[in-house]
Amino acid sequence: MKAKIAAVVIGGLAALGALYSALWAQPAAAPQSTEQTSRSVWDGVYTEEQTKRGETLSGRECASCHGDGLTGGEAAPPLAGGAFLANWDGLTVGDLFDRIRKTMPQDDPKRLSREQDADVLAYILSVNGFPAGKTELGHQTEMLKQIRFEAAKPDRNK
Ligand code: HEC
Repeated sequence: MKAKIAAVVIGGLAALGALYSALWAQPAAAPQSTEQTSRSVWDGVYTEEQTKRGETLSGRECASCHGDGLTGGEAAPPLAGGAFLANWDGLTVGDLFDRIRKTMPQDDPKRLSREQDADVLAYILSVNGFPAGKTELGHQTEMLKQIRFEAAKPDRNK
């Protein structure tokens, strides 16, 4: 009788072990696929390092009009917070990149390189509370158009 109980317990443990490894194997694969098919500003699309470069550039090239920390100046709107987020919600990071490339700095658009614009854009994303990640934001408009600009954090459980 005792042996039988022991066998059941051991069998049960083995089953639990199998269940565990099955559970652990899963999460590694899942997020990657969603990341590739559709990315948004909530997926960590720039790096901390890039933000630092962007912050320096922004202080030199954008702050005179848009204010320190991009909170808005006398003649230019804030590039952070409610109104800004509402303007770009539903568009893409590429659209915002294009807008900066073609029209900003307003006194001399084209002064910045594509790389510099991407760095400033990374900084703008960070001041708006979007998370940093492991890969830098690129500077190819077509690639950036694949990244959705979503003001509100999506509910992943839906
Ligand atoms: C000489 C002043 C000036 C400078 C410097 C400047 N901007 Fe602007 N910016 C403006 C003004 C004025 C507006 C609003 C009018 C317009 O849309 O053109 C604006 C609008 C914007 C917008 C659109 C905001 C929205 O809510 O949609 C973005 C994005 C932007 N600027 C980014 C930048 C970035 C990035 C830099 C630095 C590389 C920069 N600007 C430098 C004056 C400036």
